[in-house]
Amino acid sequence: MEAAVKEEISVEDEAVDKNIFRDCNNIAFYRRQKQWLSKKSTYQALLDSVTTDEDSTRFQIINEASKVPLLAEICGIEGNIFRLKINEETPLKPRFEVPDVLTSKPSTVRLISCSGDTGSLILADGKGDLKCHVTANPFKVDLVSEEEVVISINSLGQLYFEHLQILHKQRAAKENEEEASVDTSQENQEDLGLWEEKFGKFVDIKANGPSSIGLDFSLHGFEHLYGIPQHAESHQLKNTGDGDAYRLYNLDVYGYQIYDKMGIYGSVPYLLAHKLGRTIGIFWLNASETLVEINTEPAVEYTLTQMGPVAAKQKVRSRTHVHWMSESGIIDVFLLTGPTPSDVFKQYSHLTGTQAMPPLFSLGYHQCRWNYEDEQDVKAVDAGFDEHDIPYDAMWLDIEHTEGKRYFTWDKNRFPNPERMQELLRSKKRKLVVISDPHIKIDPDYSVYVKAKDQGFFVKNQEGEDFEGVCWPGLSSYLDFTNPKVREWYSSLFAFPVYQGSTDILFLWNDMNEPSVFRGPEQTMQKNAIHHGNWEHRELHNIYGFYHQMATAEGLIQRSKGKERPFVLTRSFFAGSQKYGAVWTGDNTAEWSNLKISIPMLLTLSITGISFCGADIGGFIGNPETELLVRWYQAGAYQPFFRGHATMNTKRREPWLFGEEYTRLIREAIRERYGLLPYWYSLFYHAHVASQPVMRPLWVEFPDELKTFDMEDEYMLGSALLVHPVTEPKATAVDVFLPGSNEVWYDYKTFAHWEGGCTVKIPVALDTIPVFQRGGSVIPIKTTVGKSTGWMTESSYGLRVALSTKASSVGELYLDDGHSFQYLHQKQFLHRKFSFCSSVLINSSADQRGHYPSKCVVEQILVLGFRKEPSSVTTHSSDGKDQPVAFTYCTKTSTLSLEKLSLNIATDWEVRII
Ligand code: NOJ
Repeated sequence: MEAAVKEEISVEDEAVDKNIFRDCNNIAFYRRQKQWLSKKSTYQALLDSVTTDEDSTRFQIINEASKVPLLAEICGIEGNIFRLKINEETPLKPRFEVPDVLTSKPSTVRLISCSGDTGSLILADGKGDLKCHVTANPFKVDLVSEEEVVISINSLGQLYFEHLQILHKQRAAKENEEEASVDTSQENQEDLGLWEEKFGKFVDIKANGPSSIGLDFSLHGFEHLYGIPQHAESHQLKNTGDGDAYRLYNLDVYGYQIYDKMGIYGSVPYLLAHKLGRTIGIFWLNASETLVEINTEPAVEYTLTQMGPVAAKQKVRSRTHVHWMSESGIIDVFLLTGPTPSDVFKQYSHLTGTQAMPPLFSLGYHQCRWNYEDEQDVKAVDAGFDEHDIPYDAMWLDIEHTEGKRYFTWDKNRFPNPERMQELLRSKKRKLVVISDPHIKIDPDYSVYVKAKDQGFFVKNQEGEDFEGVCWPGLSSYLDFTNPKVREWYSSLFAFPVYQGSTDILFLWNDMNEPSVFRGPEQTMQKNAIHHGNWEHRELHNIYGFYHQMATAEGLIQRSKGKERPFVLTRSFFAGSQKYGAVWTGDNTAEWSNLKISIPMLLTLSITGISFCGADIGGFIGNPETELLVRWYQAGAYQPFFRGHATMNTKRREPWLFGEEYTRLIREAIRERYGLLPYWYSLFYHAHVASQPVMRPLWVEFPDELKTFDMEDEYMLGSALLVHPVTEPKATAVDVFLPGSNEVWYDYKTFAHWEGGCTVKIPVALDTIPVFQRGGSVIPIKTTVGKSTGWMTESSYGLRVALSTKASSVGELYLDDGHSFQYLHQKQFLHRKFSFCSSVLINSSADQRGHYPSKCVVEQILVLGFRKEPSSVTTHSSDGKDQPVAFTYCTKTSTLSLEKLSLNIATDWEVRII
């Protein structure tokens, strides 16, 4: 290992040093906006400048002081979305507009301008009840639904727009004036960081000067806000104090501090707000450093005394102000008007795409470590899983598998024959995942480096030379993934003949792609590095990792000639990253508090489009006590991306290293995951086609129940399972809130049931994972678990039918080959629907377009909450044949159990209970 990098690692061994990261007061554009806003200078819309075409309505806005004209553009987008763009009308040069995030040009709906008075303009989309009221002076936009204002824009007058200027020295020369005539004294300049900003030993020289933007939104009647990942924070957003805004700036923060608003690895500038009766979203499409302030004014009731002899009471609704500030770019904001959580999810995915359909293996358990040392180690760990009868699907190799951190190569001493190693894994129906980071070692003998350099594919520095920074391999250059040609070339590196030693069971892990630059400002790239199109890094910092994953996923698709689904895990991400794979929460710590916060962190990612997310099981940094490790496996088994991982100087922690009892507990948790895979896969299909998150906060499923709005220690998987992981040491009981006054809930293991709308104390032992099935649901499971998902293709299904208070239930199963795109192109899939009503369970097609020849049978059906012992049960197949079925009934738990069935999953049938 190179000395430079060794030193970095030992530095990294400490928990986060917050001094290397900026807080708001160290951020010049934050200080400038605050200072300026205190002066209360207003903007006015010039409504006589209004022009309207098919797509949008435009008008000028002018600041009373600067007089620089801005151009506002409002358009309606299909699905009850409004878009507001504000840019300079004639900027000195183009300002950055984020490309490649919107899935296609949003289909606009024509807005009709209704009569407003001279000082206002009213726009409606003709269909819905939503209207957009523009007030001219001071400029304000209200979004109105049924005569009620839902969102106001700029009602606090925080619209802020720094227009591009010529550097004052140049201007002075140009105008042949004295420099002093411009009010930019050196001292003032430094403080405001207009053209130059210092942080520690770093100086950011800004060739384009100040270019920041800001705007406020008032959300009427809303007190509960969520979203804007990524922060190690609570699910519900908190009010921000002075200098304590949520920061969106992708950074490599090793051992990040929890309950903190500092920016970590990824950013999704998208926030949701919820109140009884309505959910809305604000998507702020900007990829530069962004700060979000939140301030809730609770509802007040006060007495008006000035109204004559009788005092009158007036109620003022609560509202929350959200203030977005970005370092550069333009204002481009989408208002998603709901009204339900599900509508908002659809509206957001209409803009940024849905979760990619993952290959089935990737929903199994992943075994990672920095590092599995060599082929022998891989073989031994792989065998360990079989010896201990623990299923797993993918072995992972971290950076040490390469020749000196040269990605796409293998360390020949440790991995002399990578194909042989992959053949071993293939024979076990398992996969290999390897790492590929965006920094490329500067080495004239490394072909990836040489080819990228020759083609000018690296990010450049101010002098126009390749940017150089230190990362794992030592001095490196960074691929400019914002360039489509670079992405195309990078994708081609995954072709089997090019990536020597790779086979079709090898998948990818993109790390360090914030990008991480050791010893760089805040461990990342200088903001004035230059990208394709001559854009400064500051304009697009937050989208760098998005492009890396995009190119990797595309490479995996191409290597299979478009046939196979990719799997790519990324650490850094942006809005829309869900289209390219999975995300994890980076370098967490082996502490109970970190296990606990994994739940809100994953819930936040999930509702902002990224369903495929997970946290390192066990905690990456440090050695978890055994109880914590077990609890983490149990929690992880019920989180979407399920991977054990540990940093290099930690003790080995494969599941069987802690004695038979603990091995059993971990085995049980992983096996529970595998049993539920048909449900998981169906949920991912639903996320893929219908935009609904896999892991859901309770408020999403119970939007009318106030009590759920800030819950983050339990959550729903789909709409059928409620999970309350144990996150405290030595727990003997957990308090579980079971929502819904008309609901009934069944303990997943004991079948005990409770009516909804109450909190129950559930006793827990070390083998308890508190999971509850919602009455009214049918969950498909596998009745036997194999060594990996590949061994379970043929195995039988079971159905867990949990009856509602009305003795009915519904559920679904989606299945396909688990790896290809045939489900899409040839409609090779099965989508079945199960419904139970009047004591008849019906298996029917949920989507007639799909066909998939599955020979699998349903061999077991469990009906929970069946009130009385039946006298007979028969199956009725579509060819008219009836057959009696043996059953057992447990009076104590009201559970009816049908075993040894042989009902083909793919055909229509009924089970009739009399
Ligand atoms: C940082 C990642 O977050 C971690 O998971 C990985 O093991 C190390 N980089 C080494 O690649």
